[in-house]
Amino acid sequence: MTIAIGSDHGGFHLKEHIKETLDAMQIAYKDYGTYSEDSVDYPDIAEKVAKAVADGQHEKGILICGTGIGIGIAANKIKGVRAALCHDTFSAIKSREHNNANILTMGERVIGLGLADEIVKAWLATDFAGGRHERRVNKIMDLEK
Ligand code: RB5
Repeated sequence: MTIAIGSDHGGFHLKEHIKETLDAMQIAYKDYGTYSEDSVDYPDIAEKVAKAVADGQHEKGILICGTGIGIGIAANKIKGVRAALCHDTFSAIKSREHNNANILTMGERVIGLGLADEIVKAWLATDFAGGRHERRVNKIMDLEK
């Protein structure tokens, strides 16, 4: 499994921290930027990560901005992406089990490093439950047609 990870300036420090967490978990990732605290526009980063996930270059993605909201809204414009904003582990787990989320978004200005680590670990460890949820996710994807 490889992860596409990206952030704007508002999520830069949390992105760097999550990269260390992924290193410790021995999970491979590609960093799609941003690479400094300089101001950038979050839709540009969302587009890169979302297209890489939708194209199948990576199984999953992690996107971080100040709130996790803007970068997730932008990512969900890309066909095939199901980006979920999660600031608690229950939502992270359910976004995988019920929604088959393929991108996790978080806000650096909202949560601390420890909770973000737990969210990432829970999200990556949880599989899609399928069954009745598959029918519902298929209906979401049908909305893209
Ligand atoms: C950048 O200042 C900020 O607007 C961005 O990181 C994000 O929170 C937008 O949703």
